Amino acid sequence: MRGRGFRSVLVTLVAGSLALAGVAVSADSAAPVGPPTSTGTGGAAATVERLATQAAIATLRKGGNAIDATVTAAAVLGVTEPFSCGVGGGGFMVVYQAPLRPRGRPHVFTLDSRERAPAAMRPDSFMEGGRPLVFNDARYSGLSVGVPGTVRGWSEALRRYGSKRVTLAQALAPAIAIARSGFEVDQTFFDQISDNRDYFDDVPASAALYLDADGTPRDVGTTFRNPELAQTYELIARGGANAFYTGDLANAIVQTVTAPSIAPSANHRWRPGVMAASDLAAYVAPQRAPTRVRYRGADVFGMGPPSSGGSTVGEALNILEGYTLSGMTREAALHLYLEASRYSFADRGAYLGDPDFVKVPLRGLLSKGFAQTRRALIGERAVPGSVPPGDPAPFSGGVTANGEASITSTRAGTTTHLTVSDKQGNVATYTFTIESTGGSGLVVPGRGFLLNNELTDFNFDSVTHPNRVEGNKRPRSSMAPTIVLRGGKPLLALGSPGGSTIITTVLQILVDRLDLGTPLPQALANPRATQRNGRTTTAEPAFIASPEALALTGRGHAFVSTPEVGAATGMEFLGGGRVVVAAEPARRGGGSALVVKP
Ligand code: GLY
Repeated sequence: MRGRGFRSVLVTLVAGSLALAGVAVSADSAAPVGPPTSTGTGGAAATVERLATQAAIATLRKGGNAIDATVTAAAVLGVTEPFSCGVGGGGFMVVYQAPLRPRGRPHVFTLDSRERAPAAMRPDSFMEGGRPLVFNDARYSGLSVGVPGTVRGWSEALRRYGSKRVTLAQALAPAIAIARSGFEVDQTFFDQISDNRDYFDDVPASAALYLDADGTPRDVGTTFRNPELAQTYELIARGGANAFYTGDLANAIVQTVTAPSIAPSANHRWRPGVMAASDLAAYVAPQRAPTRVRYRGADVFGMGPPSSGGSTVGEALNILEGYTLSGMTREAALHLYLEASRYSFADRGAYLGDPDFVKVPLRGLLSKGFAQTRRALIGERAVPGSVPPGDPAPFSGGVTANGEASITSTRAGTTTHLTVSDKQGNVATYTFTIESTGGSGLVVPGRGFLLNNELTDFNFDSVTHPNRVEGNKRPRSSMAPTIVLRGGKPLLALGSPGGSTIITTVLQILVDRLDLGTPLPQALANPRATQRNGRTTTAEPAFIASPEALALTGRGHAFVSTPEVGAATGMEFLGGGRVVVAAEPARRGGGSALVVKP
């Protein structure tokens, strides 16, 4: 996310590039930019970055639908947020398709463009001498790179749910123009390079893109251009997704993963991966059934396995539904939110994995009966440590699963989330990532993008866990793009980056909005705390300083400070086509939420 005061000159550029793409931009799209909240009609978009939000709004104005606008904005984010997301990674999208007829059936779909392990990966691929690699040795390597899913995902999203008025080439055009003309390096961009500098300078292609000749990050205030990424996007624009998954580009990805070009002066060992051209050629982005739980008279739809987002948010909501949170003090409600998170995370840690490889007891995990057994364990005081997983088998319709207790890593990760609606009432909510900030650290030479390190989302320290490494498997995710319907019509749509804190961020916002009556923009802005089945709860300084935190400490909660948790975007549907759309007012510099007709 960019800091404030960012690149107004580029508003004109985006307008020009959209015109090139056949998407006209009216003069007022260059009007005030970057508000964290807007209200209006005709469609809406919220992203972490104002150029991306503007590109989405311009697409909606031209008659593209929410899915067209989502892909357009995501392509821009791949240029301007290259350390969080891009064509070298993957993600998940939840889509609400408005009924075509007045009393027609609405549909909620999910699209899985999660990275997949190369076929040759094994449960012990990240182990040496019987011990798992330390995280950075696993991360900064070819081994951690999963087959990227983003490009197939964009193509599938347009094919399945797009208006057919915006082609993939048109969706990529604004991003191409920005990659060529450049944008101003701000402090966030500088800092994200700085955090990776000791590894980027080992890799000539990464150093050439992100470091100056003296080996320091691109300076704040200078213009960053990425013509090689523009060429990559142009190749995809001409040849479609297949131009990414086969041919020269696919071969370049394989070469980078299996034989990374490392400088003789490198001060780290970069382990090669095992990706083959056949892994890329075989990649598919399947449509999957959403998770669904009933909560306070609404239907909450989320992302099912291989993400743990939908099931963990859903289980926690089922636990919380047994309490009347709206009648409690905020402190009492937050205590239950934290404890429900703890028990849900214990179950997530034990049972979630790629459903193509392991039996996930999803029906049990999302059942009211199982939630009741977990709720019965929650008391007036916090549990002073982690809790074991429960047994969802009796609620799973005969599906038994081999769980293995595991503790959620405290890595927060990076990632980005965007939420878009259109005037027809369609909604898309999309989270995508390259996993850590800067991914694997490997830029594909001459192609302008970083490869992900998504395979470190496997439980790579176990050869038996449901989320162990296996060939062709997708690592468990925490991404939780979420759509809430009431009476079959959209009520809320939201999501967040933040690794495993994504789940609690989405849950806390839902509780704040649906139970405690907090307006959505305030629910996004409120200080956050995230309990993931640990002895301590990670929380933002403003949360720790709140009167509620003091009272929670009296109940046995122990807080550990972290600067920020999550960076959400979302929207609430007010009826009559009106929407309030919200991005972060402050976290990561503040996001951008706009409507077509204010
Ligand atoms: N890599 C972050 C996630 O999938 O949850």
